[in-house]
Amino acid sequence: MVNIIMSVDWEQIRKEYFPALELHTYIMAASASPLNKRAYDEGINYLNTMLNHGDMYYEKFKEDVNKNRETIAKYINCKPDEIAFVPNVSSGMNLVARMLDIAEIIYPSVEFPASVHIFKRLGFPSKKIMPTNNKYLIKNIQKATSANTKILIHSHVQSLTGYRQNLEKLGTFCKQNSLINIINATQSFGSFDIDIKKENIDILISNSLKWVGCGYGAAVLYINQNFFSEREIPFSGWLSVDDPFAMDNENVDIINHPQFMDTFGGCPNYGALLALKGSFDLIKERIGLGNIKKGIINIQERILWLTELFLKKMREFDLKIITPLEPEFRSGIITIEHENAEKIYDLFIKNNIFITLKRYPSAIKNTLLRFSFNYYNNEKDIDKVVKVLRSINI
Ligand SMILES: Cc1ncc(COP(=O)(O)O)c(C=O)c1O
Repeated sequence: MVNIIMSVDWEQIRKEYFPALELHTYIMAASASPLNKRAYDEGINYLNTMLNHGDMYYEKFKEDVNKNRETIAKYINCKPDEIAFVPNVSSGMNLVARMLDIAEIIYPSVEFPASVHIFKRLGFPSKKIMPTNNKYLIKNIQKATSANTKILIHSHVQSLTGYRQNLEKLGTFCKQNSLINIINATQSFGSFDIDIKKENIDILISNSLKWVGCGYGAAVLYINQNFFSEREIPFSGWLSVDDPFAMDNENVDIINHPQFMDTFGGCPNYGALLALKGSFDLIKERIGLGNIKKGIINIQERILWLTELFLKKMREFDLKIITPLEPEFRSGIITIEHENAEKIYDLFIKNNIFITLKRYPSAIKNTLLRFSFNYYNNEKDIDKVVKVLRSINI
């Protein structure tokens, strides 16, 4: 494990690809990472191509997007045509909710609203899973499950607390209880390993603004192809058919694979999708030395090392950390609860340190300071936080 970490020059990667880190102490990947230079170059190349040559190279854009689909498929261990690109998590969840028959859903009590919003609006009966010390253990999930429960919706990593679910145990539970297993991977995608098959995931969705760091506008939706043995893909358009350039308006004979739901069957948002490719190329080529899985594992180890270091350095202060601290449940997010969170946050801003200020949904006041470390962070970032906290005698 140590060898893997040693082989990646994280400081060089930070310097070469993340200009924002030269300007700011940036510890808020869970809100959004800064764009990396590879993603930026791909996006700019797309704009320049359109500027200088118009639509001459659209086939090349398509080819590149499909190459990236293959990379993502290798990362999460599925077939490329089981992946559709959509603009964000909410659009993906809309699509999924309309594909499923109305039935009871269960979800963690602090689940991010985008995971469940449309299910609730469409009238899916819903029940919350209540945690033990902010952990959604299988026993907690069991308690919320009844004979009526048919669907489980769960973030791999909880946005508020950073609790990382054990996807393998969750997948086994879903299989044993015949639940459709829907994972929102927004807070882990691109930074933690995911294996669709081993973890028995039926549907997975993630936006790529956060840990992948390619800006707004692209999300990845995986749907197990078995879903379409009896169903048709719910959203389609002229590009969802074989030979769309025949422009045959009689042809509504769609190809029944998730891939053909891309951008709801119409012209793709190439700018965002090519930036997404840039981010994955960076992970695969520079961090994984040619291997996407290795790149992800290296990032996972780096993040866990950074958060461990952060926690060690936080021990000198009297802080209430609401993130479950067992290694099994740890992610890139560490959340601290403090009654003076707003003042501390302001002081961070004055010192050019950017984290996320949050509150419990039912609270009036912001009491949560969320630190989220991605692979581009380093020990110096942590030391700057320590310096500020020392200055206020916390
Ligand atoms: C877990 C999670 N899901 C979804 C989103 C965002 O949803 P959308 O992509 O629909 O804007 C966020 C954060 O913004 C999030 O933390």
